[in-house]
Amino acid sequence: MPQATQVTAPIGVFDSGVGGLSVLRALLAELPHERFIYVADSGFAPYGTQSEAYVVERSLHIAHWLAEQHRTKALVVACNTATAAAIQQLRQGFAHMPLVGMEPPIKPAAALSRTGVVGVLATRVTLASHKFQHLLERMPGTVRYRLQPCDGLVEAIERQDATKIRALCAHYTAALGQFGHDNGAIDTLVLGCTHYPFVADVLRDCVGPEVRLIDAGQPVARHTHHLLATHQPLLLSTAPMTSGTVPLGQRVDFYTSGQPAELDQAVQRWLGLDAKAQALTPTAAHTD
Ligand code: DGL
Repeated sequence: MPQATQVTAPIGVFDSGVGGLSVLRALLAELPHERFIYVADSGFAPYGTQSEAYVVERSLHIAHWLAEQHRTKALVVACNTATAAAIQQLRQGFAHMPLVGMEPPIKPAAALSRTGVVGVLATRVTLASHKFQHLLERMPGTVRYRLQPCDGLVEAIERQDATKIRALCAHYTAALGQFGHDNGAIDTLVLGCTHYPFVADVLRDCVGPEVRLIDAGQPVARHTHHLLATHQPLLLSTAPMTSGTVPLGQRVDFYTSGQPAELDQAVQRWLGLDAKAQALTPTAAHTD
C-alpha cells in the first residue's frame, strides 16, 4: 500500500555486495542534501552466476525491507545484475516509487569508440539477460561488441583478494582480444558491473593507458537527481536536513546480510567514511 512520502525520507540503494558503493559515491556527490540507506546483500552474493529467479527473489526482498523499515522515497538498484533480472518485477511491486536501475553503458561507449570495437565486462546473468540482449540489438551495426562474463571477479573483490583480482582481470581482458588504437582493436571497455570500478587500476594495467574505461555510476546519479526533481518535485531535498553541515558519514546508514565489519572496511577504503554497518537480519526482512 503506497504511503505518503516525506521529502526528508531516505533514498534506498542496494547491490549484491560492496559494488554499489561505486554508485553511492556518485549519488552522495550529486545529491548533497539527501540521506541514503545502503544495503549490501553480501551474504547472498554473488548474484551474477545464480538463476534469474534467485536474483528476483533477493531484489524484491530487499526492496520491501527498505520500503517497510525505512519508508524510502526512491530506490536505486545499484547492480546491473539485479536490474537485468528484476527491474520489471520491482517496477510492478513499487509502481508508486521513483526507481532507477542500471545497465552496462554500451551506448556512450559506442559514441566514444574510434576503432568501432567495444569490450564489455559484466556478470553472466547480465550478459545473458533478455534486457541486455535487447539493448544490444538496438545498437547501430557499425560498432562491434565483444562480451566477457567475469565469473569469480565479484567474489574476489568482495574478499579483497588482490592476487585473484589481478589473475582474473588479466585472464578476462586477454580473452577479449587486442586493445589499443589499431584497426580492429578494442579502444573502449565497459565496466558492466558496479564492483568493477574498484579494480579499474588493475584493469588499466591489463589493457593499457590509452583504452577508455566507462562505468555508469555518474549517469545513474544524474538520472536519480533528474527523476526526483522533474517527476517528483516534492521529493527532492534542497536544503540540509538539519541546520549546519551534516557530516558525510551521517548521511548514510549501512546494512549488510554479510559481515558488518567487512562492509565497514569497504566503506572506509573506497568512500573514506567511518561506517557502523548493521546486520540485515532475515527476521527484519520481508519474507514473501
Ligand atoms: N555489482 C553487481 C552488478 O553490478 C554484481 C553482481 C554479482 O553479485 O555477481 O552486476
